[in-house]
Amino acid sequence: MRGGTTKQSISEEPRTRISFNKEWKFFLGDEPGAKSPAYTDSKWRKLTLPHDWSIEGKFDEKNPAKPEGGGLPTGIGWYRKEFNAPANFANRLITIEFDGVYKNSQVWINGKYLGKRPYGYSSFAYEISKYLKPGKNLISVKVDNAAQPDSRWYSGSGIYRNVWLTSSAKVSVAKWGTFVTADQSGKVQIETQIQNKTLKPQSAVLVHTIYDASGKLVLKTKPASVKIDTSGKMITSEDQIKNPMLWSVTNPKQYKLVTQILQNNKLVDAYETKFGVRSFQFDAEKGFSLNGKSMKILGVCLHHDLGALGAAVNVRAMERQLEIMKAMGVNAIRTAHNPPAPEFLDLCDQMGFLVMDEAFDMWAKKKTKNDYHLNFAEWHKRDLEDMVVRDRNHPSIILWSIGNEIREQFDSTGIAITKELVSMVKNLDKTRPVISALTETDSTKNFIYQAKALDIYGLNYNHKKYKDFTKNYPGVKFLATETTSALQTRGFYDTADTIRRWPKDGKTKFMEGNKEWSASAYDNVSAYWGSTHEETWKEAKKYDHVSGLFVWTGFDYLGEPLPYPWPARSSYFGIVDLAGFPKDSYYMYQSEWTDQPVLHILPHWNWEQGKSVEVWAYYNNADEVELYLNGKSLGKKSKQNDDLHVLWKVNFEPGTLKAISRKNGKDVLTTAVKTAGIPAKIELVADRSKIKADGKDLSFITVKILDAAGNVVPNADNLVDFKVEGSGFIAGVDNGFQASLEPFKANYRKAFHGLCLAILRSTEKAGMIKLTATSAGLASSSITVNTVKL
Ligand code: GAL
Repeated sequence: MRGGTTKQSISEEPRTRISFNKEWKFFLGDEPGAKSPAYTDSKWRKLTLPHDWSIEGKFDEKNPAKPEGGGLPTGIGWYRKEFNAPANFANRLITIEFDGVYKNSQVWINGKYLGKRPYGYSSFAYEISKYLKPGKNLISVKVDNAAQPDSRWYSGSGIYRNVWLTSSAKVSVAKWGTFVTADQSGKVQIETQIQNKTLKPQSAVLVHTIYDASGKLVLKTKPASVKIDTSGKMITSEDQIKNPMLWSVTNPKQYKLVTQILQNNKLVDAYETKFGVRSFQFDAEKGFSLNGKSMKILGVCLHHDLGALGAAVNVRAMERQLEIMKAMGVNAIRTAHNPPAPEFLDLCDQMGFLVMDEAFDMWAKKKTKNDYHLNFAEWHKRDLEDMVVRDRNHPSIILWSIGNEIREQFDSTGIAITKELVSMVKNLDKTRPVISALTETDSTKNFIYQAKALDIYGLNYNHKKYKDFTKNYPGVKFLATETTSALQTRGFYDTADTIRRWPKDGKTKFMEGNKEWSASAYDNVSAYWGSTHEETWKEAKKYDHVSGLFVWTGFDYLGEPLPYPWPARSSYFGIVDLAGFPKDSYYMYQSEWTDQPVLHILPHWNWEQGKSVEVWAYYNNADEVELYLNGKSLGKKSKQNDDLHVLWKVNFEPGTLKAISRKNGKDVLTTAVKTAGIPAKIELVADRSKIKADGKDLSFITVKILDAAGNVVPNADNLVDFKVEGSGFIAGVDNGFQASLEPFKANYRKAFHGLCLAILRSTEKAGMIKLTATSAGLASSSITVNTVKL
């Protein structure tokens, strides 16, 4: 946990930070009187944060967020929480911290206005000590997400990230008040911002202690006496960690700094900061290196929604997404197109991902009618600086992005804004490059580039331009900040021979498509500005000067259902679908981006007799793959030149399609797909069968529709009903189909291409959760998940 220890209750310890998520009341609609303590909220719903009311609503084409925003309701909502004043509050600094509220939050305490925060992705805090009174106090929050459309993707609505209550001494480390930088030799520099809210100058002693990942003390600085006047003080300390353990994507070891402030020999503050020791470089010719070792940034872009759980932050759901990405070989994430939840960055630090932390999708010029351009003039400085100050201790972050495909790249106003934003970032952090994701490739017409303030040329799409980049831009560092935009539906296969651009250009109305509202998973469909997965990866992999790439996108996300109209309501761009089930291209990347042996064949094996079907195999660690149909060899194939898969044209006959990969004549892997019969039974598979009884942890249950022999039935769309007993509940259901209008909060779901998902969430009571799945005509199934107190 960043910025202080997290404890269960406020005590007289030097500093406490408690979760402030429980026992809120919520009302969907506008209740201006609710800011006042006199207002009665007895009819309001009780809930625990984080909360996203949009995901609970019904899909409707008429919802003002439009399909681009996910087709779910938005509007205005109010939250209220009554709480007891923390002990000894009059002598303390009590702060309420919001990690993020979407959007236009306004906060009151005991009817007194504390302030507003328009940008829904910024973290912010209010010091509330002086408004507190003994006994009961009241926080009221208005969230206004009514003016729509305001986003090109699903944002969610509400207090969708965590809320904290911090108590510290009046002389203490300020919010986000430490900045640690360390180089590969172990030289550390610690900047500490100390606040003094006592109204008179103070003397104190500052000591830093650093522990390694195993908890061993590795450094204690000499106590430094400091004088702090009432405006606070910044102190810089320098020291040396001997033989530092370097943070990397394969060994993401962090250090913990504990900053102590003492007054009159008494400890008045203890503030924790995690950090990592690592160095990295971008080189115009050689690309990226971490700790002196060359490596390509193998990244994906991710939006913040968690599929069926909406935008409501859940650490396990984020961790699962990252686990799925890690297993594919991803080593970097771009937080498109906004600052993420702090826990997301903690996970990237712990799991070993590099991060491109992005501030904005627009500046003063709009992309949608009610988006952040309305707030840019007044708030951009605050929002950008807060992102950098909040996030600059994360070893995972290697890039600050000041914006994605910003309209100002096309006119001269881009120059001044770019210079201003870059200098704001550099004033706060000189250790990381600043980038912007650009689309205009003619630099003479690109005014963001013309500002000559960026450290790296970040280019979106245009993979054919990678080749000559060093010739056209000698000495300029290069990163493919966004690529591909291939379109796929899991389990849907449309003849592979041709590549489709959907839509085909910027002018023609999209008329192609199919009645299944799907896009082929043969990696043969993309937006016209993008490419198939293979087309871009082939180029990116060829050139050292391409430091890396961020594929659009790792997961499908809510909103932007291009190219389909309603009822499509979520994206087709993901390498993994919204429910977390990989599409086939996942294995292409896995075969290229990991060393682990891969052999994956597609498509399924249920076709009409005699149909000519293209069978693809993604593989690695082998010289060849041999394919067999019902025991008969269909020949051996090897990837030639820059091939990323091999293929056979096979006349369909039912049975078993088997592939064997071989190296030096020896079998490496075998895989098979069988013709499935009619649906007969349900199988339930839990990603984890033991979870924490903390009211937050999740078990993701994959629901498979099988034939009598145990094969997944590839086109099964049976409606599955769920019953839950014991210490848990269903937090969401999904099947990954981009045009399903079934609700995510339900105890039923239709399977899609043989699969659906139920997400179980624990309560705080330890015990067992039993999930039973039934479906007309199928043998039912149940599974239990244990929930344990830690
Ligand atoms: C890009 C944009 C992304 C997404 C993508 C879809 O131009 O940066 O946010 O809209 O297109 O292909």
